[in-house]
Amino acid sequence: MVIDETITLRSIIALFWSINQIKNMENNIVKQLQEITKNAEAVFKNEMNDAELKEFEAQLIGKKGSISALLKQLKDLTPEEKKVVAPMVQQSRAAWAERINALKKARETEQMNRALAVEWVDVTKKPSGRRGSVHPISALQREIEELFVGMGFMIADGPHIESEWHNFDALNIPPTHPARDMQDTFWVKTGAEDTKENFVLRTHTSSVQIRAMMEHEPPLRVLAPGRVFRNEAVDATHDSAFYQIEGLVVDKGITMSHMKGMMELMLSKIFQQEITARMRPAFFPFVEPGVEMDILYTDRNGKEKWMEVVGAGMVHPNVLKNCGVDPKEHTGFAFGFGLTRLCMLKYGIADIRYLFSMNSEALGQF
Ligand code: DAH
Repeated sequence: MVIDETITLRSIIALFWSINQIKNMENNIVKQLQEITKNAEAVFKNEMNDAELKEFEAQLIGKKGSISALLKQLKDLTPEEKKVVAPMVQQSRAAWAERINALKKARETEQMNRALAVEWVDVTKKPSGRRGSVHPISALQREIEELFVGMGFMIADGPHIESEWHNFDALNIPPTHPARDMQDTFWVKTGAEDTKENFVLRTHTSSVQIRAMMEHEPPLRVLAPGRVFRNEAVDATHDSAFYQIEGLVVDKGITMSHMKGMMELMLSKIFQQEITARMRPAFFPFVEPGVEMDILYTDRNGKEKWMEVVGAGMVHPNVLKNCGVDPKEHTGFAFGFGLTRLCMLKYGIADIRYLFSMNSEALGQF
């Protein structure tokens, strides 16, 4: 190696020069240095492994190394002797340090080159195997979230295991309401049955309305997408777990026309076209008045039909009161729709089971 040779040469020249200078001096240190250098030369090889090199360095120029020991002896010399001998020892030490470091550097470069030769990725190559894609439900959810965030909404979520109060009572759903029927709801044993609270797998995202109002003062604009659970028999359009998106706006002077405008805007954005929608009166305990919104679509046989897509209404005063909001001061509207259902409608997916069956043939198309 070129570097090593020049360094060796330099240190040898230095050594000869020094020896001439002290020819007549009876100097023990110089002899020792010569001896050390000779031995070191015999041992130092490019082929030394990392551990050997480390050991070599420690023995020679480390704190307790032999050249370092010589440096300590300098203090016993006369000033004249020191003038000649000290630079010799120091230069020798520096030269060895340089040689050792050069070898270390060469080692690192070599290791790096070896790694680069093996560990490389051709970024221009098409990946082998199939590529994953975003699940259509998630893709649509993100799309809708973006739309609402653009209108100043915050995204909120609540727990899947929800208290009976958040899921039903606070939403003005009395204990006798059919939504509480054992057929619909998964009741959860928490292991703490001595407490008064009962827990359910949330049957709708409406429970997040309550959490949002309890946590934040109006004005409020909240969008709450998420998974909900019902004790359904699974068929082409039903599953026991599915996705909903809930919306809530509470402010001073909010009216039904705000609600209608926002629903129509949302649906036209989702379907990327002007849609024809209609509102029908409907009953949901947590809104008054309540509506269902249908959109006009053409079925497979070319027949125009109305399809219900979203439930909505003006937040019931009892719900506002339950959350500490004064209905005389603030009004609001809420809406909730099945994200799973909307996804099926948007992409023409005939069977809900395609969405949740882990069937990559079906899901890979999105
Ligand atoms: N929570 C209702 C359900 O699961 C949907 C719904 C209807 C939500 C009307 C609302 C609403 O916020 O105003 O069927």
